[in-house]
Parts: sequence; structure tokens; C-alpha cells
Amino acid sequence: MRIIDGKEIANQLKNEMAAEVEKLRSDLGRAPHLAAVLVGNDPASETYVKNKEKACHEVGMASSVYRLPERTTEAELMEVIDFVNKDEEIDGLIVQLPLPKGLSEDAVIARIAPEKDVDGFHPANLGRMVLGQPSYLPATPMGIMLLLQRSGIETEGKRCVVIGRSHIVGTPVSILLSRNRAGANCTVTLCHSKTQNLPAICRTADILIVAIGQCEAITGDYVKEGAVVIDVGIHRVPDASKKSGFALKGDVKYDEVAPRCSYITPVPGGVGPMTIVGLLRNTLSAFKGEIYPKR
Ligand code: GUN
Repeated sequence: MRIIDGKEIANQLKNEMAAEVEKLRSDLGRAPHLAAVLVGNDPASETYVKNKEKACHEVGMASSVYRLPERTTEAELMEVIDFVNKDEEIDGLIVQLPLPKGLSEDAVIARIAPEKDVDGFHPANLGRMVLGQPSYLPATPMGIMLLLQRSGIETEGKRCVVIGRSHIVGTPVSILLSRNRAGANCTVTLCHSKTQNLPAICRTADILIVAIGQCEAITGDYVKEGAVVIDVGIHRVPDASKKSGFALKGDVKYDEVAPRCSYITPVPGGVGPMTIVGLLRNTLSAFKGEIYPKR
């Protein structure tokens, strides 16, 4: 069994990006710039946004955060998005989700200029991805594809089972893995809360992607001997033996599943660090005008 070290792979990719960013900055006079909009005080969202800022600075990109109060109206939020959409020195814009109640995530995402939508959540970018056209790939699915590639895991012709059909992870990763291109070409089954005989379907998987958001729900009896297991979940559970008072666990019961696997991602230090790499790659790509050529 080999542990896929997402932190190490993310560091390698960030170092490669840092070199390119420095060259672009010295040639073109400015670095790529990612803006994040954070509405309200959700602690998990605060942490995500701080990590994004830190990662931008690590690779030499500029970052800014627009903090808006919990009771911001949709019209006020749209004004901020319009403002950033027009700013020629900002390449990428993300609106941190979830939004406070009363704000429509669909309407807000649709307002982001597609060429700045580095989360890849805008319908135009998701549509392009489904059609196999150049687009910003959602960050976590891109991170998973990069982990598989960088670990030298063969995907062509393999059976892949994805558990979870969210717009952010399960649905896009199932599409990416089934595309006709190198690093994909899997036969994909997408499972969800209404799937019958889930353990038996999971046991057919050469590659099992778990994104259900339930702590340690996937036990050894879901996993075929020799499978590759990618755990997207992250949960805080109380743990008196830790200084912080909590431990981080995935959707997979690691101790039971790991001995059955050929490869597995740990939590923390597996998929998590790769998500930010996905976002940074999209921001770099926006700066270079790779998806939507600049005028
Ligand atoms: N909330 C949880 N994951 C994400 C993400 O990838 N992007 C944004 N904008 N919000 C999130």
C-alpha cells in the first residue's frame, strides 16, 4: 500500500508555478491576481479564504479579499462582483460558498465574468468542460486528476466509482474521468444517496473516489483488494489527545481501508492541499488568457 502524499505533490506543483509566476511578473510587470469575496462569518469559510491568500503569496501571486457583512443584500453583492469583473488588474474571482441564507448562489455565480471564474462554477465553464472544450476545471476535481497523474496511476479502461454527486466534486470528477483523453478514459459509475447496493458497486472499483461528506462512512467492505482510494472528505472530531482538541478525519475509515488499497490519500494531507493548487493553476491560466484569449 502506498500513501499518496498530497502535500508533497502540491508543494512540487507550487514550486513549478512560482518559477513561472516570477518570470511572468518580471516580463509583464505584474503578477496574477486572485480576488475572493467572503460574505458573513462562517469559520470554515474564513479558514479557506486565509489558506487561499497564503497560497497565493507562496507562489508570488497577488490576492485580495472583499469582506462583506452577513446581512449583505444580493444587490450589494452583485455590485462588488461587477466592480471586480471590470478591474483589469484582477485575473480571477471567487465567491466563497456557502452564502448566507437569502442570497442565491446560482444567481451570484452567474454574475461572475466567465473569464474570471477560476472556481469553474459558472454555467459557461461547466458547459465547456462537459463538451471537452478548454475551460477552468473546478479546483478539487482538477486536484484529484493531478494526484492520479503525478502518482503514475493508470486510469485508461479502469472501473471508477464516484460516491457523491455534488456540483463541486462528484459530478465534475465523474465527467473528467470519463473523458477521451490521457489521464482519463475510465468507465465511471456515479453513486449517490439513492443508490442501492452501494458496497457491492464500490467493490467493483479499481479507483474509488469518495465525496459524500459523512465522517468515516466507507469501511473495508466497500473496497476491493488492490483498489486506489481517493478520500475527499474532511471532518473535525473531538480528540482529547490532541493539543487543538480535535482530529481531522475523512469520509473513509482509514485504518480499516488502507491495508486493502494499492494507493490511498490520507486526511489531512491528501486531496485538501491539491484543491488550492487547482485554484492557483486556474488563476495563472486566466492571467495568461489561455481559456478566454485577452483582447
Ligand atoms: N466552498 C467549499 N469549497 C469551495 C470552493 O471550491 N470554492 C468556493 N468558492 N467555495 C467553496
